[in-house]
Amino acid sequence: MDQKHLNFKDKINLGSFYTPKWIVDIVYGFLRKNIVDINEYFILDTSCGYGGFLCGEKAIGADIDSEAIIAAKKCFPGNKYFEHNSLLNISRSQYNLNLNDKIIIVGNPPYNDTTSIIRNKIKKEKFPRDSDVTSRDLGISFLLSYNKLQADYVCILHPLSYLIKKTNFESLRNFKNNYILKDSMIISSGVFSETSKSTSFPMVVAFYEKSLSGMDYNYICNYKFSTYEGKSFILKDFDKIGNYISKYPNHKSIKTEDTIAYFWTMRDINALKRTKTFVLKETYNTIRVTKNLFPYYCYADIFKENISHIPYYFGNSDIMINNKSFVEIQDLFINKCLVKYPNLKNKYSLNNEIKHDEEIISKYFKSLLGKHYVY
Ligand SMILES: C[S@@+](CC[C@H](N)C(=O)[O-])C[C@H]1O[C@@H](n2cnc3c(N)ncnc32)[C@H](O)[C@@H]1O
Repeated sequence: MDQKHLNFKDKINLGSFYTPKWIVDIVYGFLRKNIVDINEYFILDTSCGYGGFLCGEKAIGADIDSEAIIAAKKCFPGNKYFEHNSLLNISRSQYNLNLNDKIIIVGNPPYNDTTSIIRNKIKKEKFPRDSDVTSRDLGISFLLSYNKLQADYVCILHPLSYLIKKTNFESLRNFKNNYILKDSMIISSGVFSETSKSTSFPMVVAFYEKSLSGMDYNYICNYKFSTYEGKSFILKDFDKIGNYISKYPNHKSIKTEDTIAYFWTMRDINALKRTKTFVLKETYNTIRVTKNLFPYYCYADIFKENISHIPYYFGNSDIMINNKSFVEIQDLFINKCLVKYPNLKNKYSLNNEIKHDEEIISKYFKSLLGKHYVY
């Protein structure tokens, strides 16, 4: 059911993008597949909106938004509801649950990266949180709260970047130490009717089980992710440009006299879609490019030209590269950039002999992406 009662600003601040039923069905599919008897468990959604995720005899919903709770009570009257801030004074007793109760947490917690550039102006820190769940991202706070509640299982929808970006993953702290990803399905954020298709990013329906060993980043790098569209990938299968060059401003380590060009910061593939590549002037957001690493920055520039061939599920990944194949044809990438950016011409010599570059470059990207190449 689509959220109806909030204005645009409140919707962004609360992260109130309600989940379509077919995604709720994926969650219950994972629960039935991986848990022997889900009827033994309390089903808890601590950011329940209109209650779309609440199913079964022992379902409990909570939300900070009083109107959402009123609507949930009307739609699904059999459940218990709490109107509160689920990130403050987190404990089982908030839900009249005790330590012996078995709990499955479901839902689609709000994700709201306060450092994200999209619509940044209207995002703000609105509600206080327990100090042990504070994070740059509201969704990560929710994951930390599930650990605090000691849920037996957690099956929720969240941005894939929480797992695949190392800094995000590390910020999952005790959640990653105490839970392990057992099952998952990647879907595009574009499925939410109100979000823009052009800025869609990968989300994951993730099924976590409480575990003594937890998971480390290496576990995620070797994990086989599947997408709703029937594709699958392992992060380790791709080499990334960050292994060869600096993706972030490096003026502290590179001297002015060694700099031949400036390149815009490369956060991930989706960021590259929106940003410039080579720029004329140095700013706080630019990288100093040296002559020996110049080919890799040309690579990133041409990668951007080919970005429409990259599927949405790599949107938060690093720019990928097949270094061996690239090195063999790097002159093609350099030449293209020297033609494109005349001010670079006197920094690097241009080889006029090279022909058929479009064909070879296109072949390179097809082989780099294999079954993931978007035609
Ligand atoms: C993405 S919506 C999900 C709603 C519902 N679970 C669904 O998927 O349809 C996120 C919900 O989190 C609620 N919310 C945001 N911050 C909260 C907080 N600190 N405590 C409880 N609920 C919160 C919002 O009001 C909103 O209803």
